[in-house]
Amino acid sequence: MSHSTIFPIKEFSSLRTPFYFYDIRLLKSTLSAIHHAVANDSTFHVHYAIKANANPGLLTIIRDYGLGADCVSGAEVQAALDAGFQPDKIVFAGVGKRADEIQLGLDSEIGCFNIESVPELELINRLACDKGRTARVAIRVNPNIDAHTHHYITTGLAENKFGINLDQLADVADLCLKLPNIELIGLHFHIGSQILDMEPYQALCVKINRLQDDFAARGISLQSINVGGGLGIDYEHPDESPIPDFNRYFNVFRENLKLRPGQSVHFELGRSIVAQCGSLITQVLYVKNGVSKDFVIVDAGMTDLIRPALYGAHHLIQNLSSHGQQHIYDVVGPICESSDCFGHDERLPLTSPGDYIALRSAGAYGECMASRYNLRALPGSMLYE
Ligand code: LLP
Repeated sequence: MSHSTIFPIKEFSSLRTPFYFYDIRLLKSTLSAIHHAVANDSTFHVHYAIKANANPGLLTIIRDYGLGADCVSGAEVQAALDAGFQPDKIVFAGVGKRADEIQLGLDSEIGCFNIESVPELELINRLACDKGRTARVAIRVNPNIDAHTHHYITTGLAENKFGINLDQLADVADLCLKLPNIELIGLHFHIGSQILDMEPYQALCVKINRLQDDFAARGISLQSINVGGGLGIDYEHPDESPIPDFNRYFNVFRENLKLRPGQSVHFELGRSIVAQCGSLITQVLYVKNGVSKDFVIVDAGMTDLIRPALYGAHHLIQNLSSHGQQHIYDVVGPICESSDCFGHDERLPLTSPGDYIALRSAGAYGECMASRYNLRALPGSMLYE
């Protein structure tokens, strides 16, 4: 499906820059692609990882396409409920769930707590007991698989803080069965983010199959296998491949996972759903001619989009206002940190103050990671259809 984001620059003057621009037509096409990719598979359930972008306007649209929600804080559970996600389609993960957050999950009867430690499991049991409820839990397993992605976003290695290690899994499962207010419904995995190579997912399936054999041998049946998220996107060519290849991704699980009768498979996709529909729109404040470089100084900084500063990520930079001759610039923000740089040696048309610049593929982990460092205002947003 071809789709190039067309920016309605004339309408930009009504908003203060920087702001996030969301191409809602592209978001809907992406959600339809997911819908079609799993339509024939009643065992596949897709949850949207709210951490990628919790903009309420986007959440409502995503809910309309029938997705569940994957949350990592009480506030995210609340955001999912407020946006109308069905409570039984909400899963709640995270290594450090507070008691009040667990209570919210219990009170709203969410579908599943993905538990990451024994003390957490015991606390959930106690709080559920106080309320006379049973908590459905999945054990988050650390499968020790290298997703070959940035080390800050690799989560499935034994050295990471996430999940229960394989050698402790049997004991934790036994504990789940013993605790009176816990119902063990399945296993949960997540190996990392921005994964484009399908090989780590195949390795994950092989590991899950082996674990399923172990559980079956011990007479423990599991209703649900949650394989997490992590499907990557093409940051350098947002208009050529705006919609990730969901068929290829789901097929890996279709072809490699050996499911038992009645089991469901759950996915927690964040970036692949929202990244390409969002761009950070910023305006040029100054063009500064340095000794060896020319700088384009824009009014967005690492406070609005932290990915370049934090992960060394690159977002395609486009000047939406100028079509002049090409020139080489460093594109930098106004924050007092040298890492506040969006691109070195960027080839842009001759750029002037007031030009609109788009930082593309910023719909995931952009707006939601904005901060008020330097007491800057948080960026606004425009949902455009
Ligand atoms: N499930 C779990 C348990 C996760 O930890 C994550 C992301 C997801 C699902 C969704 O992963 P996705 O489909 O979006 O890759 N801020 C970083 C990404 C951090 C991802 C954290 N976990 C970035 O900007 O690249």
